Parts: sequence; structure tokens; C-alpha cells
Amino acid sequence: PRTAPILVASNRGPVSYTLGEDGSLTARRGGGGLVSGLSAIGPESGGVWVCAALGEGDREAARRAGDSHLNPGDTGGQQVRMLDIAPDVFAAAYNGVANSVLWFVHHLLYQTPVEPVFDAEFAEQWAAYESYNAAFADALAQEAVDEAVVLVQDYHLALVPAMLRERRPDLRIGHFSHTPWAPPDYYRLLPDDVAAGVLRGILGGDRAAFLTERWATAFADCCAAVLGAEIVRDGDDSGSGVVTAVRFEGRETRLGVHGLGADADFLRERSRQPDVDERLSTLRAQIGPGRKSIVRVDRTELSKNIVRGLLAYRRLLETRPEWRERVVHVAFAYPSRQDLAVYRDYTERVRRIADEINEEYGTEGWTPVALHVKDDFARSLAAYRLADVALVNPIRDGMNLVAKEVPVVSERGCALVLSREAGAYAELGEDALVVNPYDVEGTARALHEALRMSDDERADRTKRLAAAATALPPQAWFLAQLRAL
Ligand code: G6P
Repeated sequence: PRTAPILVASNRGPVSYTLGEDGSLTARRGGGGLVSGLSAIGPESGGVWVCAALGEGDREAARRAGDSHLNPGDTGGQQVRMLDIAPDVFAAAYNGVANSVLWFVHHLLYQTPVEPVFDAEFAEQWAAYESYNAAFADALAQEAVDEAVVLVQDYHLALVPAMLRERRPDLRIGHFSHTPWAPPDYYRLLPDDVAAGVLRGILGGDRAAFLTERWATAFADCCAAVLGAEIVRDGDDSGSGVVTAVRFEGRETRLGVHGLGADADFLRERSRQPDVDERLSTLRAQIGPGRKSIVRVDRTELSKNIVRGLLAYRRLLETRPEWRERVVHVAFAYPSRQDLAVYRDYTERVRRIADEINEEYGTEGWTPVALHVKDDFARSLAAYRLADVALVNPIRDGMNLVAKEVPVVSERGCALVLSREAGAYAELGEDALVVNPYDVEGTARALHEALRMSDDERADRTKRLAAAATALPPQAWFLAQLRAL
């Protein structure tokens, strides 16, 4: 049935299901930039979102829906088609290729003396990734009306634009990367056919968009280095203008930059709800009267650099004893991608170091690190409200929305310690305390500066940070891409 004029495709959809023992399905709507972006066009637009079934509940919901959309009652009215891809194919594509390889390459996560190793198992996983991408291309081709606009999201679906163009040359296709893009030397760790396949896949679309200029430029550089493609730049012939397009095999793919911002209206309203107030009191009691707080909120994700953040905090307590008993590091590290052993190990390591710091420095009435691992959005918002300092120190990050959300929600102003390797640095760098994420000493010094910042300065900076952080809210971000296509 060709009905959709606008389509979104992403691995993780806007809803997920849990399967009860009695066979009942419970739907849970997800948040995030895409969900609120898509709400800009509303259900009446006829837009359709195609996503993958991630777990058993999703699979069951996808099977019950068959070839049609999920029950709109579960999705807030959104038309969602969930693809029931064979579990082994899905696992190889999602865990094997997307999260263990493409994610690692774009975030520079490999310990290169021993990894990556591209062996026969990887070759099989790559074949699974191709068929998983083909399943999306098939579904999109079925759903789209003539000349529909299709917005393909992220590294899971890098091959979809080219596959879809083959099936439906009439469509206007855009790809958006929510991650950084690797520089060419690092990108070429990938086997040659994979490196070329990913780029050709994205170049199959009319447009490839990124969160910052830096990632768009890296993508263009990879196209030149790997495919010998031509980079088109703005302005004169000096070669210094910003990249605007890539030409390859007689086609041109335009490049775009859309720095997704925080959703101020949603955050302000949500963070004043009673469940957030309740958690605020609990957190305040936990921190203790008169103490400052350093807050971080992340998925327990290798690229988020939680370990070095803890080491920097330990160093702060070591070198600046005046802060002992006077500060608490509230660290939210929510479980993520636990199918991968490196993520499980990393999670363990985070726990161990937090425990070590508490043993080393804790006193009767003071626990230096409050580590929370159970995902709780209301509690994150409560922490944003009370934070004196926010620590956002990723090794590398496409954008990092925490850095943008904290200044919006903060009540008394919050000093932001920010990695220069986060995409958000491009917009927030001026009013943040900027760190090199590998430099633990430097990060410890920045924490000290942040804790010492005067109330007035903190408030002023937070105001400017909030303005920069909300420049392109999700709905405007989404509409800008539609318009550009
Ligand atoms: C990053 C990616 C998203 C992904 C999210 C959570 O932000 O860019 O595409 O959905 O991480 O990861 P997960 O593997 O849980 O979907």
C-alpha cells in the first residue's frame, strides 16, 4: 500500500513492547529528538516510521501487526511499521556490525594493537547487515507514495539510501548521522569493501546530513580518500570553504548540518512534574545540606568516558582537600548494549572505581560518589535542576544532548565542564569550561574551577548556554531536513 508522503527509518523506533507471561503486550513510548521532531508533522500528515523489532515483545507486536502498522493507541497516533527481522540476522547487524564496528570506528574506540580483527565471522555479520538494510529498503519502498521524502537515520542504516534508490528512483532520500564521522586514516581500518560500501550507501541519497560541520567534513574527506569522490565547497577556489556536496559516479549528494538542540518547552514542563519534585527531595537529602554537586548523566557507554571522569574527581579530592566532605559526584550511568562483553566489563569498571573512591575518601556522613545505574528520566531531570556542575567529558560524541539539557533545566545556574570532542562544543564551547577528555589532570582542574565559579558568573553563562542549546529544537531540526529535501 503506497500511502506515506513522509517516512522515517531508524533501528530503534518510538515505541517498545514487553511481553507478559499471559501473552499481553505493554507498550512504552520512547523519548528523544526524533520522536519530538516527528511530532512536528503530526499523525494527520500520513507520515510513517519504519523501525526494527529489538526484543521479544517487539517481535510479538510486529507479528500481530503483520504487514500493517502497529496499534496507533500504542504510539501516540503515529503510524509505525515494525520489522520482524530474523533474530540472528538482527543480532549480527546490530551488535556485530553497527555497535561493535561502525560505532567503534566513528568514536575512535579501538585498541588498535589487538583490534579490530576482520575475520570470517565478521564477513558473515556484514552479509547480515546488508540483508537487514535490505529489509528496511523493501518496507520503505512499499510504504512510500510517488516522490515521497524519506529520512534515514544513523549508522545502522547506512546502506538504505542506495538500496532504496535502486527500488524507487522517484523518492527523495536523506540520511542523517547522529554520531561523529571518523577521519579517513581511522575510517580505513574497515575492510575496503565495507569502507566503500558504507559511503556508497549513504551517497545513494540526495542528501547526507550531520550534527556539526566537523563530522560533515570528515565524511567528505572519507569519500575522497576511499572512493576518489570529488568534494564540492562553498566560495572561491582556495579549497578552504565549507563542504557542500560530494560528487561521485555522475551524481551529487548534498551535505547538510543540523545541530539538534534541546526541546525547551518539553523540558521545562516535564521537569516541574510531581515525580521530579519527589526525586529532587531524595537527591537533596542524599547530597546533604551545604554541599555542592557534580552531576553526570550518560548511558554506560565507552565513548562517554565515565572512567576518566571518576579519576578526575578522585584527583580533585586528592589535590584539593578543601572539597572533601563539601561535594558529591552524582553519576547516573544507565545500562546500555549489555549484549556486548566490552560494555558489561566497562560497567563493572565504573562500579569498581566509584566504590574505590568511596572507600578511600568516604566518611561517616559523606559518600563522595553517588552512582545510580537504574534508568530514571525523572531523576535525571531532578539532578539537572540542582546541579552546581555538569560533567560532560566524552572521548567523542555526535552532539551530546545532556550538555544542552542541563542549562535549560538548571534552577540556579550550572557550570558546564565540556569535552572539546563533543559535537555540542561547536555551539557551547564559549561558555563552558572546555577539557581534553583524555587529560585527567586538566579535567580535575576544570572541576575545581567550575566549583569555584561565582553565582553571578554561573547564572550568566547558563543563560547564554541555554540560548545556544535551544537554537534548533527537535521540531525545527526535523522540518529543516524536510525542507532541504
Ligand atoms: C546513539 C545512536 C542512536 C541510538 C542510541 C541508543 O545515540 O546515535 O541511534 O539509538 O545511541 O543506543 P541503542 O543501541 O540503545 O539504540
